Amino acid sequence: MNHTRSVPTDLIVALDQFRPEQALEWIEGLRDYPLIYKVGFELFMAGGPELVRELVHRKKRVFLDLKFYDIPTTVAKAARQAAMMHVEMFTLHLSGGRAMVKAVAQELQDIPALRPKVLGVTVLTSFDDVRWAEVTRALTGHAVDASQSVEGLIEHSPSWGADGIVCSAMELKMLRAKYPLGPEGVYAVVPGIRPEGADLDDQARVMTPAQARNAGASAIVMGRPITQASNPSAVVVRALKDLGH
Ligand code: C5P
Repeated sequence: MNHTRSVPTDLIVALDQFRPEQALEWIEGLRDYPLIYKVGFELFMAGGPELVRELVHRKKRVFLDLKFYDIPTTVAKAARQAAMMHVEMFTLHLSGGRAMVKAVAQELQDIPALRPKVLGVTVLTSFDDVRWAEVTRALTGHAVDASQSVEGLIEHSPSWGADGIVCSAMELKMLRAKYPLGPEGVYAVVPGIRPEGADLDDQARVMTPAQARNAGASAIVMGRPITQASNPSAVVVRALKDLGH
């Protein structure tokens, strides 16, 4: 899909703390809005592919956030299964490298009608520079800053075959300097979003929906500000407006 400033920014709702049956019931309250639902590890481990199929059956758009990382063949076959479930997008770790990402892109080539967006994860934001240096030193003998690794992975991601990346709002500037918004642009999914004045929960550096859109997000992820709101529809309506819907 085209993503320019004139195209609305997608709103992804993270269904993190629901049991599968609860999630299915809860989202019915939001059925009138153009939303994408993020199913992560926790919910997937509880509800499995059946939950994903049920969401799709109910005509919901699904972002399967399982962050695949394995040998290329295994990830390519997992990606095929995700596509067969009609998810709209899914994640893999870019640190799986060129061969892994390419294998996925190739695997999906012969099912173009089902092809989900392939989104790359760079360095998990739970890493600070000290913790990331432990990893890079163990791998290479050198300490590398997390931001340097993020930039390197983002640089390669499109040529390896990913359609987009998951990045923090703070990384959008660097991303858009390299890959501007545009019809064939990199699809940037940004978590860590809070409406003006909302509780930060455990998120440290946040942006509002409008700020993320202005900074070049193609989609934002919001979980708790919507799922724990006393009036989720009101939060959704406000966010959709700020996102150009
Ligand atoms: O509830 P909240 O809006 O903080 O949820 C954000 C979602 O985005 C969660 O599913 C979280 O795991 C995910 N996420 C994040 N920060 C990242 C990557 C993913 O908060 N860097």
